[in-house]
Amino acid sequence: MSVILITGAGKGIGRAIAVEFAKRRREDFSPKLLLTSRTLSDLLALKKECEALRVETHVLEAELSKLDEVNRIYESALSRFGRVDCLINNAGVGRFKNILDLTEDDYDFTMNTNLKGTFFLTQKVFAEMQARRSGHIFFITSVAAETPFEQSALYCASKFGQKGMLEVLRLYARKCNVRVTNVMPGAVATPMWGEARATLAERMMMPEDIATAVVDAYFQPTRTSVEEIVLRPIGGDL
Ligand SMILES: NC(=O)c1ccc[n+]([C@@H]2O[C@H](COP(=O)([O-])OP(=O)(O)OC[C@H]3O[C@@H](n4cnc5c(N)ncnc54)[C@H](OP(=O)(O)O)[C@@H]3O)[C@@H](O)[C@H]2O)c1
Repeated sequence: MSVILITGAGKGIGRAIAVEFAKRRREDFSPKLLLTSRTLSDLLALKKECEALRVETHVLEAELSKLDEVNRIYESALSRFGRVDCLINNAGVGRFKNILDLTEDDYDFTMNTNLKGTFFLTQKVFAEMQARRSGHIFFITSVAAETPFEQSALYCASKFGQKGMLEVLRLYARKCNVRVTNVMPGAVATPMWGEARATLAERMMMPEDIATAVVDAYFQPTRTSVEEIVLRPIGGDL
């Protein structure tokens, strides 16, 4: 049994990762999925899809930017399964504006999900993995974790921040047999792009492309850690 906790599972890349794990079910791999995001209807539709693939699936509507909700996500995993084998830190947000137009509300909106909630959920899950000396934590960061883009000051700050966070985590993780993978995609056609998705989709990757790479990394022998995955559209960044 592998307990897989995915944040932001309702849409886009997180949803595709959940479906990919479910599709890989086989005799010696029976994932238990715990899927969380803010929109219950998304999660219920996804649960149905994963259960149709004969995978045990639980969903939890929760707001990652609030610490009491972060605790609720962790407690839900622990009370149900006693552990998390794989955490996919996927939930993320961005507001894309000229640097001079970004507000304090934009700052809190971005940082509270991408950094604060992600950090404190990871901290809880890692403590348990460290004690058990086993586990795998993925961060879906972005190429914006190491490349600056105009209109993206806060998004880049949060993604560079995630990269710093996970690289420090890896210093601890290497000592206790836990794998930490930084997944850095370029543009992917998901709801995050809003209306722009329709016009740009042809130049973007699909969520399934990221999901395949993530699940392949999970299936590497446990002696091997895929530390970074960089995926870009064939034509490069938009
Ligand atoms: N799309 C891209 O081009 C791209 C490229 C590189 C990296 N990424 C990163 O990949 C990750 C997934 O992006 P995506 O494109 O799949 O985004 P998306 O389509 O907007 O989906 C994001 C998911 O995260 C959930 N979520 C967002 N904020 C949340 C919060 N505070 N609490 C709980 N759930 C929250 C959303 O839930 P609700 O909809 O219910 O609110 C949704 O299910 C993000 O970290 C993003 O930065 C995306």
